[in-house]
Amino acid sequence: MANKEIEKIKDEYFASCPTGLEELLASEIKALTYEKITVTKGGVHFHAPGKVALELMLSSRIASRIYRKAFRFDVKIEKDLYFYAKEIKWKSLFDLEQTFKITVVQSKSADGTKRSKFKNSMFLAQNLKDGIVDRFREDCKDERPSVDKDQADMTILLHVEPHVNIHSVKETATILVDMCGAPLSQRGYRDTNFSAPLKENLAAGLVLLSGYDGTQNFVDPMCGSGTIIIESLLIKGKIPPSYIALEAIITHKEESYWDFLNHSWFLRDKYLIEAWAKHLKDYMEKAKDGFDNLDKSKVKTFASDIEKYAFNASKFNLNASDLADFVTLEQQDATNVEIASIDSGIIVTNPPYGERIGEDRDLPELYHNFGENLKKNFKGFKAYIFTGNLPLIKNISLRTSKRQILYNGAIESRLVEYDLF
Ligand SMILES: C[S@@+](CC[C@H](N)C(=O)[O-])C[C@H]1O[C@@H](n2cnc3c(N)ncnc32)[C@H](O)[C@@H]1O
Repeated sequence: MANKEIEKIKDEYFASCPTGLEELLASEIKALTYEKITVTKGGVHFHAPGKVALELMLSSRIASRIYRKAFRFDVKIEKDLYFYAKEIKWKSLFDLEQTFKITVVQSKSADGTKRSKFKNSMFLAQNLKDGIVDRFREDCKDERPSVDKDQADMTILLHVEPHVNIHSVKETATILVDMCGAPLSQRGYRDTNFSAPLKENLAAGLVLLSGYDGTQNFVDPMCGSGTIIIESLLIKGKIPPSYIALEAIITHKEESYWDFLNHSWFLRDKYLIEAWAKHLKDYMEKAKDGFDNLDKSKVKTFASDIEKYAFNASKFNLNASDLADFVTLEQQDATNVEIASIDSGIIVTNPPYGERIGEDRDLPELYHNFGENLKKNFKGFKAYIFTGNLPLIKNISLRTSKRQILYNGAIESRLVEYDLF
C-alpha cells in the first residue's frame, strides 16, 4: 500500500489559455500579483492568495479556465490513487449532494525528457473516483455523491507527471479543482445559433497582439459574428470581460454562474467571501466606467461582412453585449471596401480558411484580392490576418512584417502582420 504523504496545497493555481497566448496571460496575472509565475505550454502556474485568483476570474481576457490546486502526492501504481484519495477529506471541497466528474491530464516530466508511464488514463480516473466515493461513504453513513459526466457541480482535474527526480519510479499526482465549469471564454453575448470559428479569449488575444490599446481606429472587414470587434471594444473601454457574468451573479439570474460559487472550500471561507463581494462591487464600477470611456472616445470602430447572415449575427451579438452604439456595422465586400472617414488604424481579421465544406475553392482569389484592397485603400494602417490555412497567406502580395504561431483549438494558425505604407 502507498505511503500516505499528502501535501495539502495552499495558494497555488493554474490558468489555461489557447496555445500561443501564454505570455499575454502571464502579464494579466503579473498585474495582480508579484508572486511566483511559471509559463508552460497552454497555461500559467501561479502562487497567489485566493483573492487574486478570484479577481483573475473577473479580469482575465485570455484565460480559458482557472484551476485551484488542492492536493499533491506521489504514486507508484494506479491503485495508489485509490488509497490516497481515501485519505482525503473531500467534504472540504464539495458536498455529498453535489455531482462530480474527473478529467485526467498526463504530461511529460518538467524537463521534457520522460513520459508518464501510466498507459490508461481511464484507469487512473477510476481509481481516484473509487477512493473519493469510499471516503464519502465512510464520512456520510454509507452515502456517496453521484458522478455526472456532463453538468457536474465539481470538476476535478487529475494531473499526473513523472517525478522531478527522473530516476524515481514514482509519478506526481496533483488534484486540481476547476473553478469555472463554463469556460471564461464564454462571455455571454453570443448567439448560440451561429457557430463562430473563434473563441472570445482567442479573439481578445489577437487584438492585444496587434498592439491595439483603444487609442487607434479599429477595423474588422470580415467580421462574421463580430467576436474580434466586440473584444476590441471591451479592450478599448477597459470593460471587464466578465461584465455580463457579473450582472447575472449580482442579480441572481443564474443560480450557479461559475462552479466555485457553490463549492464548500469557497463558501466556508469568510475571507474569500468578503474578498469576492468587494471584487463584485469594484468590477461593476469598472464596467460602468468602461461604457463611459467608450462614450468619450474620439477614435472609431468599423465592422463589415459580405454575408447578410453574418451581418445579422454581428448585430445580434453587439446588441447582446450593449456595444452596438460604438461601432459602424455594414454589409460590404472586403475586397473593395474603403473607409473614407479615417486614414490610419489597426485591422484585425479572420478570413475564411476552408473550415466549412466546399468553401476552399475561391479562397486563394479572396486572399489575393483582399491584399490588393489593403494596398489600395488602407495606406497608413497596420493589418493583422489570422488564418488556420497557412498556404493561403502566400496569395497576399504584401511584405509580411511579423508572423506569430497560435492555436485555434487544435488547428495550428498564424497571425500575420502587414505594415501598409
Ligand atoms: C472565419 S469567418 C470570421 C469569423 C469571425 N471572426 C467571428 O467571430 O465569427 C470569415 C468571415 O469572412 C466573411 N467573408 C468571406 N468573404 C468575404 C468578403 N469578400 N468580404 C467580406 N467578408 C467576407 C464570411 O462571410 C465569414 O463571416
